[in-house]
Amino acid sequence: MHQSNNHIAQSAPERDKNWSPIGVFDSGYGGLTILREMQKLLPQYDYLYLGDNARAPYGTRSFDIVYRFTLQAVEELFRRGCKLVILACNTASAKALRSIQQNDLPRIDPSRRVLGVIRPTVEQLGTLTRSNHVGLFATPGTVRSNSYALEVAKLFPRMELTGHACPMWVPLVENNEADKPGADYFVSQDVKALMKADPAIDTVILGCTHYPLLYPKIRACLPPDVRLIAQGEIVAKSLTDYLHRHPEMESRLSRSEHQGHTEYLTTEQAEPFARMASLFLHTDIEATQITLS
Ligand code: DGL
Repeated sequence: MHQSNNHIAQSAPERDKNWSPIGVFDSGYGGLTILREMQKLLPQYDYLYLGDNARAPYGTRSFDIVYRFTLQAVEELFRRGCKLVILACNTASAKALRSIQQNDLPRIDPSRRVLGVIRPTVEQLGTLTRSNHVGLFATPGTVRSNSYALEVAKLFPRMELTGHACPMWVPLVENNEADKPGADYFVSQDVKALMKADPAIDTVILGCTHYPLLYPKIRACLPPDVRLIAQGEIVAKSLTDYLHRHPEMESRLSRSEHQGHTEYLTTEQAEPFARMASLFLHTDIEATQITLS
């Protein structure tokens, strides 16, 4: 692993000039659930994934810290050739996206783009709910930011959104406990609390990219007639639309004829990351450890 670290560390800045992957950022493993769907729908592009595993979880951190860490990650992905970065993390989308788009991008490079996952998710709600009562599971940071509620109010003023924070769910996933019996207790408590807060809910969003790993357990606790929505496909479709609408960006992305190339970066040790990520992605991968500052 060390050899490969050195290789990337030395070669990244002076890498082939045509290397222009789509950057995908998350605090840890969660963004892999988004990357997986992007790779399925848009396999021709190159991707560069970055998980800030050393500093995860972000969900309980302050606005200021999440913004600072996310900006460091975006700048690193830019340095490594990305012209387009997806914050595949609701917490970062809620707490850092707007500042980065409005204040940092004009200064760093106005031609690059950073996109989040909250808006595309909310856009789909109108076609999903019948009762107009929607539930949201997310990190404490995302729920407290009110970002989902604000987007819902803009797009669907008559929709009622009830958010419920699940502080234990990300640690369960990051520690590879998502499919173990210990997770059952926390999942069932949180599902009960959400459905008690608004029994009219007919659609529940997993507003944290880590949560699809808990999908079977959450599904089993929810009433069968309640829809459970993970974001991966929604975000991948929304990226497809974005690239159609923005050919000037699409033409700057590097790709291969059939299957693009994906590289993985983590701020924690590369080997455990690669092992866990291989579980998420159902394929073996190699990762490289980097430092963000
Ligand atoms: N996966 C992230 C999200 O979508 C953040 C989880 C965390 O680091 O707390 O919110």
